[in-house]
Amino acid sequence: MKKASAAFRKFTYGVYVVGAKHEGRTNALTCAWVMRVSHRPPLVAVAVGKTRFTHDLIAKSGAFSVNVLSQDQLKYARHFGLKSGREVDKFTGISYREGKTGSPLLEGVVAWLDCRLVGSYPAGDHTIFVGEVVDAETTDLSPLQYNPRDYWG
Ligand SMILES: Cc1cc2nc3c(=O)[nH]c(=O)nc-3n(C[C@H](O)[C@H](O)[C@H](O)COP(=O)(O)O)c2cc1C
Repeated sequence: MKKASAAFRKFTYGVYVVGAKHEGRTNALTCAWVMRVSHRPPLVAVAVGKTRFTHDLIAKSGAFSVNVLSQDQLKYARHFGLKSGREVDKFTGISYREGKTGSPLLEGVVAWLDCRLVGSYPAGDHTIFVGEVVDAETTDLSPLQYNPRDYWG
């Protein structure tokens, strides 16, 4: 519905890289649709399109990471968001380490959260994955804010 799309364009978002590892394959995608949903326990929800390669890695591994990109990491947002891990290994040449769950944690991010999958809810063409934070780290860097012109002209 056109009216809904126009209204949604007035929402504000951060920019995150959400990753997972399953059977030796690590992948991640850029996500804007990320939100915290509980204090106790600390829960975070991400809406991931059913066609994304990362979608099935999260579902199968039962875990995912959320990397909060900094203002100078637009290149990561484009890198992980404009091509699929089905075609390329997006982690070639990228500095990262694995969290407790095995999910990828990027270097130089504002913060990262390593999460255990505790719920999956179908939502139209996306799935809402809810994760409980099992580990996290934060810096004083400033987070990148979503601007569609950065990606789609
Ligand atoms: C700024 C930006 C935000 C995005 N937000 C989301 C999102 O919230 N959920 C989603 O499923 N895809 C989102 N995407 C699209 C995916 O990142 C893109 O389809 C990606 O290539 C999927 O990678 P994969 O197939 O390797 O998982 C976004 C892309 C960009 C550039």
